[in-house]
Amino acid sequence: MHSSHTRLFRFFAISALLALVLPLAGCSSTQSILEPATSSAREITGLFYFIFYVALAIFIIVEGLLIYFVLRYQRRARAELPAQVHGNTPIEIAWTLAPALILAVVFFLTVRTMAATNISAQPPATVQVRVIGHQWWWEFQYPDLGIVTADELHIPAGEVVGVTLLSDNVIHSFWVPQLTGKTDVVPDHENKTWLRADAPGTYNGQCAEFCGAQHAHMLFKVIAQPRADDEAWVRQQQTPPSEPTGEAVRGKQVFESGACIGCHTIQNTKGQGKVGPNLTHLGSRTIIGAGIMPNTPDNLAQWIRNAPSLKPGIVMPAFPSLSDADLRALVAYLESLK
Ligand code: CUA
Repeated sequence: MHSSHTRLFRFFAISALLALVLPLAGCSSTQSILEPATSSAREITGLFYFIFYVALAIFIIVEGLLIYFVLRYQRRARAELPAQVHGNTPIEIAWTLAPALILAVVFFLTVRTMAATNISAQPPATVQVRVIGHQWWWEFQYPDLGIVTADELHIPAGEVVGVTLLSDNVIHSFWVPQLTGKTDVVPDHENKTWLRADAPGTYNGQCAEFCGAQHAHMLFKVIAQPRADDEAWVRQQQTPPSEPTGEAVRGKQVFESGACIGCHTIQNTKGQGKVGPNLTHLGSRTIIGAGIMPNTPDNLAQWIRNAPSLKPGIVMPAFPSLSDADLRALVAYLESLK
């Protein structure tokens, strides 16, 4: 008897604590549906809060009644038996109707949110992006602009971006909590979604479907800029990188004579590999390894030297035999690719 009371109390205390803490959990991070940055994300957040508070109210009522009855009607004497009750039609109708009504309202609001966040309810897309999910990084292709990049999706702020999703391996899920809900990224099947950032800013995205050892390290960034700045970025990406100078000259030779070109493309070089990220403008990106670390020369050197030690399971091999001087030159070359 005593232990079941204790267990019940512990269950209630933990549940109540979670109910209080859960709404606060998103406040410190920007990767949260609780801080929507666009109208469709606000619709989803609104629906979430409605369902959450309805569930919270039901939880408090049910648990409150449960505790009340447990305390009020516990057996006082060994011989005592409670009144035996069989069926109560009004109560049975009530507890069938009430949940059905609540679910009907949730259903109606869900359908309404789906309609409001559908691309057909938006102005036409001004940019089209093809997103390819790899193990474990994101490729962003702009077919109309002739741009291929990785892990950083640049978009003009305030405009609708049409997104076509495809995987070349397992199922991933494209998710930018502040901008758009999750859409699966499936092999051999194109899925469509869209997004818009109302204001300029950097928004974190994350793969939201377990896809192997490095699922947790499959981050990307959506960088929304005013149209003029975005156009400047487009022109920069469309311009082939300038010929290297200084140490980077040797770095380019290392790149072209080594294993790099088997997997990586750099425009106007021998490197036309398609397995790994396109590195044509690597120096202009802020992250490497799908967000595993910031793009700095030291980090890039570490990454090239032994990527599998930083991100076990990835395709990119380690290069223990690369001399320090060659590695330095290679890093200088790659970082010069703005
Ligand atoms: Cu890709 Cu999880």
